[in-house]
Amino acid sequence: MELLDQTRLPTEEVYLRLDSAAEVAEAIRVMRIRGAPALGIAAAMGVALELARAARGPAADLAATFGEARALLLSTRPTGHNLAWALERMGRRFRACGGERPAAVVAALTAEATLIAEEDRLACRRIGEFGLELLPGEGATVYTHCNAGALATGGIGTAVAPIYLARERGIPVRVIVGETRPLLQGARLTAWELGRAGLDVTLVVDSAAGALMKEGRVNLVITGADRIAANGDAANKIGTYGLAVLARHHGIPFYVAAPLSTIDPATPSGADIPIEERYGAEVRCGFGRVTAPADVAVANPAFDVTPAELVTAIVTDRGILRPPYGAAIAEALEP
Ligand code: MRU
Repeated sequence: MELLDQTRLPTEEVYLRLDSAAEVAEAIRVMRIRGAPALGIAAAMGVALELARAARGPAADLAATFGEARALLLSTRPTGHNLAWALERMGRRFRACGGERPAAVVAALTAEATLIAEEDRLACRRIGEFGLELLPGEGATVYTHCNAGALATGGIGTAVAPIYLARERGIPVRVIVGETRPLLQGARLTAWELGRAGLDVTLVVDSAAGALMKEGRVNLVITGADRIAANGDAANKIGTYGLAVLARHHGIPFYVAAPLSTIDPATPSGADIPIEERYGAEVRCGFGRVTAPADVAVANPAFDVTPAELVTAIVTDRGILRPPYGAAIAEALEP
C-alpha cells in the first residue's frame, strides 16, 4: 500500500510503500497516517498485507498471522474507534472464510479492506451533503480544529466535507483553522489541503479562538471526532472541548461530523473513552526546536471529550442527529 507521509507535510510530499502490518503499525504510531477513519482503513489494509505475506511463505498459519497482526495494529492508538471497528470487521470476514485456501482468504480480506475504504469515501460525501444544510446559504465563516479533511479519511473528510461541497455549489464559505498544538495538524495539514483546493482559509493560533468568537468573526464550529460514545459525548483532538465551551458561551453552534463507524455503542459515555497520552517531547521540543526546559514535566493528552450537552448536532452519513443523542444514535445504528 502507498501512503502520503503526513509527518513531512506541508514542505515535502513523500509517498511511502508499506508491505507489512509492522510497517503500517509504525506509520500509525508516529502519525505518518492519522485521523480516525484513515486509521481504520490503514489497519484493515495492514491486516490484508500481512496475510498476503504469510500466504507467500511455506505452511502459512493464517489464523495465527491474523491474530498477531490484529493485536499489533490495535495497540497503536487507543482513542479512535474506527481502528478497532475496522479490525473487528476484518475479523468477521476472516472467520467467514472458514477453511478456504490461503489465496482465497487473502483475496477476500483484501476486498474487505478495499470496501472499507470505498464505503468511507461515500460516507464522507453523504456527511458533506447533510452538513451543507447547516451552512447559511448567504455564506459563513466556519472554525475548525485539527484535520478532519481528506487527509484523515478515504474521501473528502468529515468536518471539512460540507466546506468542499459548499465550494463546489458556489456557496461562499470561509474557514478559520486553529494550528492545533502540539503537532500542528491544523497548520500543517488542514491549511495545506484547503489551500490546495483553492478555499479561503485563515490560520490562527489556538488561543485566538475565543477572541474571534467574541468579535463575531465565527458563525459556526465544525470538528471531527475520534470516538463518539453511546450518549453522544465526543472525543476529538485536544482543544476541541475548549472550543465547544467557547462556542456555547458566545451562542455559536458547535457541530461534530463523523461517520457511523466512529460511533461506539459499547462505550456508554465519554468517561469510558481511553485518552491517548503522547510523548512529552512533542511539547518540549516540537519539530526539533527546544521550546521548554528539558526536565520540565509535561502532560500531553492527544484528545479530549466534549460532553454531548455542548454539541448542537452530530452530522453523520445517515443524517443529522439531534439531542437527545442516546435515542438518536441508537436509531441511526439500527441496521
Ligand atoms: O491525532 P490525530 O491527528 O489522529 O487526531 C485526529 C483528529 O482528532 C480528527 O479530528 C479526527 O480523527 C477526525 S478525522 C475525520
